[in-house]
Amino acid sequence: MELDRAVVIITGASSGIGAATARLAAGRGATVVLAARRAERIEGLADELSGALAVPTDLRDPAQIVRLVDTTLDRFGRVDVLVNNAGQGLHLPLEQVRLDDLAAITELNVYAPLLAMQAVIPPMRRQGGGAIVNVSSMTSRMVLPGAGAYSATKAALTMLSQVARRELAQDGIVVSLVYPSVTATEFHASLRAGARVGGDAGPVQPQSPERVAQAIIEVIRSGEEEVLLGQEGGWGR
Ligand SMILES: NC(=O)c1ccc[n+]([C@@H]2O[C@H](COP(=O)([O-])OP(=O)(O)OC[C@H]3O[C@@H](n4cnc5c(N)ncnc54)[C@H](OP(=O)(O)O)[C@@H]3O)[C@@H](O)[C@H]2O)c1
Repeated sequence: MELDRAVVIITGASSGIGAATARLAAGRGATVVLAARRAERIEGLADELSGALAVPTDLRDPAQIVRLVDTTLDRFGRVDVLVNNAGQGLHLPLEQVRLDDLAAITELNVYAPLLAMQAVIPPMRRQGGGAIVNVSSMTSRMVLPGAGAYSATKAALTMLSQVARRELAQDGIVVSLVYPSVTATEFHASLRAGARVGGDAGPVQPQSPERVAQAIIEVIRSGEEEVLLGQEGGWGR
């Protein structure tokens, strides 16, 4: 999938990896649709990026996901790429995890990407294809004490993506996964509950959101099944 003139929906575009992906995609000629709750942030970013559209969206509300895709289709007539990037951590020992917190991050990290995929499949199928990139986490490939609840949601997203890739191949819809390691964003300051874990097992240096954004852009182009962003001397090495 070439990005030039592609219509690209990016969730979680108000900060970190999502904002970096929006900048990079727009720089490659894409028309970006920015989704997150903080309207002022995505509207400010949309002002910077030629032709971009901000659609304030709470992804935990299924109706708002449908509205995001409908608004994109009303404005641009098509959707070529969906980047399911929004996500939140819950970093507590399992003994302390509250079900309402687990439910909240499951709605965001698992249900929202699934609902967004379901919303874009019909228009992508009509168009003859599309690309979907789901942002998982290296923690889903590890056994990391203190991050079990979050890692479980990302492991669920990984499985949904792998199955979707096979189910949608016949429609020309290519589903890919990107697995970031620890990245320098607002993520660890906005955990649903708990605090960053890792200690000696953590990476020497967090990777930049631009590095992850670059991987997302490349996988849209290549259609590879997955990209692992482990770090030398740290997680996923
Ligand atoms: N940073 C890391 O170390 C790391 C490592 C591995 C994987 N990841 C994954 O990378 C992805 C991006 O995270 P990040 O590092 O860029 O973190 P971030 O800076 O905290 O960004 C998270 C984004 O998700 C959005 N979001 C949260 N709740 C939302 C909701 N209910 N509705 C709509 N948007 C919502 C936030 O926007 P609003 O608050 O404005 O809604 C924000 O734009 C996540 O899926 C995360 O799990 C991150």
